[in-house]
Amino acid sequence: MMLKIIVELALVGAIASVFIVAAQGSAEERAAEEAAGRRYMRTLDESTSRAKNRKTLAAWEYQSNITDFNQERQLQVALEVADQEKEAWKETMTYLWHEFEDPELKRMFQKYSKLGTSALPEDLNQRLISAINNMQATYAKATICDYNDRTKCDLRVEPEITEIFAKSSDAEELKYTWLEWHKAAGAASKADFIEYINMDNEAAKLNGYDSVAEWWLSEYEEADSEDQFAALWDQIKPLYQQIHAYVRRHLRLRYGDQVVSAKGPIPAHLLGKFFFKHSSLTARVSVCNPLPKSRAELTRLLIECGSESSILYYCSASDMFARARVPDFCAIMRSRIAKNNP
Ligand SMILES: *[C@@H]1O[C@H](CO)[C@@H](O)[C@H](O)[C@H]1NC(C)=O
Ligand SMILES: *[C@@H]1O[C@H](CO)[C@@H](O)[C@H](O)[C@H]1NC(C)=O
Repeated sequence: MMLKIIVELALVGAIASVFIVAAQGSAEERAAEEAAGRRYMRTLDESTSRAKNRKTLAAWEYQSNITDFNQERQLQVALEVADQEKEAWKETMTYLWHEFEDPELKRMFQKYSKLGTSALPEDLNQRLISAINNMQATYAKATICDYNDRTKCDLRVEPEITEIFAKSSDAEELKYTWLEWHKAAGAASKADFIEYINMDNEAAKLNGYDSVAEWWLSEYEEADSEDQFAALWDQIKPLYQQIHAYVRRHLRLRYGDQVVSAKGPIPAHLLGKFFFKHSSLTARVSVCNPLPKSRAELTRLLIECGSESSILYYCSASDMFARARVPDFCAIMRSRIAKNNP
C-alpha cells in the first residue's frame, strides 16, 4: 500500500517536472518572442508616425488652400499611406501578442491590430476620402448674402460669417445668417455625408464591428462605456441645468423676453459662436460677466491652466461653486493637459 503511494507520488512528481521544464522552455521562447515584438513595435511606430505626418501635411495643404491639384495630391498620399498600413498590418498579425506579459506592449499591438479605414478596398477608401474632401470644400466655399445688402452674396464662413457671430448683437441678423449658412452649407453636404457614413460603416465591419458607432465606442476600452456616460450625465445634469438657466437669463437681459423664452431652449444663433465644437454652452464669456473680481481671476486661471476650455469651467466654478474650488479645478486641468501632452 505504502509502496503504491510512493510510486504514485514519484509518478506525479515526474509528470510535474516534465511540465515545469516544458513551461520553462516555452517561457524563454515567449520572452524572446516578446522582445522581438518590442523591437518590431518600435520600428512600426516610427514608420507609422512618418506616414501619418506625411498624410497630415498633405491634408493641411488642401484644407488651407482648396484647389483641385491639392485635393488630388491629398487623395494620392492618403491612398499610399493606406497601402503602407495594410502591408504593415499583415506583419503585425504574425506576432502572438495575446501571449505577451507587458500590458502596454500588448495594448499597442491591440491598437495596431485594428486597421481602421485602411482596411477598405482602394475604390471604397477613395470614395470615403472624396466624401470628406467634398464636405470640407462645401464648408469653406459656401456663400450667403449680406443681411443688409441682399445683392452682396459672397459672404463665406471665414472671415465674414465668423466675424458677424463674434460681433453682432442684432438677434435678427444673427438668425438670418445662421439659417442662410446652414441652408447653403448643410443641405449641400447631405449626399456626401450619407456616403461618408456608408463607407465608414463598411470599414467598421472589416475591423470586426457591427457599425461605426460600436467601433468608435471601442476606443474607450470599457465594455460598459455607454452606461458610464449615462451615469456621468445623471451626475452632471443638475449643474448643467443651472448653467443653462444662468446663461439663458443673461441672454434674456440682453435680447429681451420676445427673443429668449423664460423656460425654453436657448436659440443657438445667440451664443456668440458660429461653430460649436465643444458645447453649445461655451457661451460668450461676456455673458458670464460682470462677476466680482472675475476678469483678473479669469486671466490668472487661463495663464495658470493654459487652456481655453477652462472658460466654461470658470463660469461654472465661480458662479455655481464656492470660489475655494477653483484651485482644485486648476490641479485637475493641469494634470489633464499634462496627460494629453506628454
Ligand atoms: C495653393 O496651391 C497651388 C497648387 O494648386 C499652388 O500653386 C499655390 O502656390 C498654393 N498657394 C499658396 C498660398 O500656398
Ligand atoms: C448691418 O447693419 C447693422 C446696422 O447698421 C450693422 O450693425 C451690421 O454690422 C451690418 N451687418 C453687416 C453684415 O454688414
